[in-house]
Amino acid sequence: MSLSFDELLHQRRKQIENELDALLIRRPGLPEELLAAMRYSLLAPGKRLRPLLVLLAHEACGSSGAPPWPAACAVEMVHVYSLIHDDLPAMDDDDLRRGQPTCHKKFSEATAILAGDALLTMAFEVLADAYPGATAAACCGDLARAAGAAGMVGGQADDLAWERSTESTHRSLADLEFLHQRKTGALIRSCLRLGAHVAYANQPTGRAPQDLLDCFDQYGRCLGLAFQITDDLLDAVGTVQSTGKAVGKDAARGKLTYPGLLGVEESRRRAELLGEEARAALKPFGQQAASLERLIDFVLTRDH
Ligand code: IPE
Ligand code: IPE
Ligand code: MG
Ligand code: MG
Ligand code: MG
Repeated sequence: MSLSFDELLHQRRKQIENELDALLIRRPGLPEELLAAMRYSLLAPGKRLRPLLVLLAHEACGSSGAPPWPAACAVEMVHVYSLIHDDLPAMDDDDLRRGQPTCHKKFSEATAILAGDALLTMAFEVLADAYPGATAAACCGDLARAAGAAGMVGGQADDLAWERSTESTHRSLADLEFLHQRKTGALIRSCLRLGAHVAYANQPTGRAPQDLLDCFDQYGRCLGLAFQITDDLLDAVGTVQSTGKAVGKDAARGKLTYPGLLGVEESRRRAELLGEEARAALKPFGQQAASLERLIDFVLTRDH
């Protein structure tokens, strides 16, 4: 009997969580409290969207090459580091994450900063250890670019700079999308690229061909933006109970968001349109990308 899509996601999430659990274990030199903070945030109930994207991109490429689990764990480690730091008092100053106190509330600010640092660096260790040289290099390069200064970190820097800027500069839709492409979109795009590289681990180049990466980039660009639109919408119209984090904070802090700039209805329309574009980008993969296609609806209709 074949699994429904929801059952498939549930099963994959469990597998991802088992793999994450196995990677975060005691070893000489790893302080107990640091490990506890890393495990607290990494194993907290998240949607695991990014590791799922790695797995489903690998599947869309024929599930060949090497196992996708280490790459899936690596992107979740980078994501969770970004959440821990995003919640710090110096950044968004949030007390609740994934339905539980944020890392710095549960432990201390210093431990939260270091747990984030440790998860970020461990991601690259996992990739370097798991894959043949060329594939590991392709994955490390793409993940570092996506997470780094011209990617997620750059987006986070502008998010805060624009929130706090006192000049009443008019921000356009292009400004907003440039921000979101980096702070959220870049990492989401890299998940697809990693899944693809891993599927080519046995090939001489050890990395996915460019035409295939171009299709995934297009899908990832649209899905990443749609994902941040729904995140912004959930902050505007969602509940603490369903999202497991504070709501109504973006407007209060003067953040540049979709609903703030376009209104709720127009933001929903923009997300739908991006969903259509993402769907179109998957055409060359045919049936092998059926699960990636289903994931678009999950992103558009999510309540958490
Ligand atoms: C929240 O990401 C941060 C953003 C980039 C919008 P998720 O909504 O994927 O958070 P988890 O992993 O499910 O907790
Ligand atoms: C954060 O965006 C993006 C990250 C890189 C973590 P938000 O600040 O909107 O994420 P939430 O709403 O706190 O999850
Ligand atoms: Mg933020
Ligand atoms: Mg935040
Ligand atoms: Mg948000």
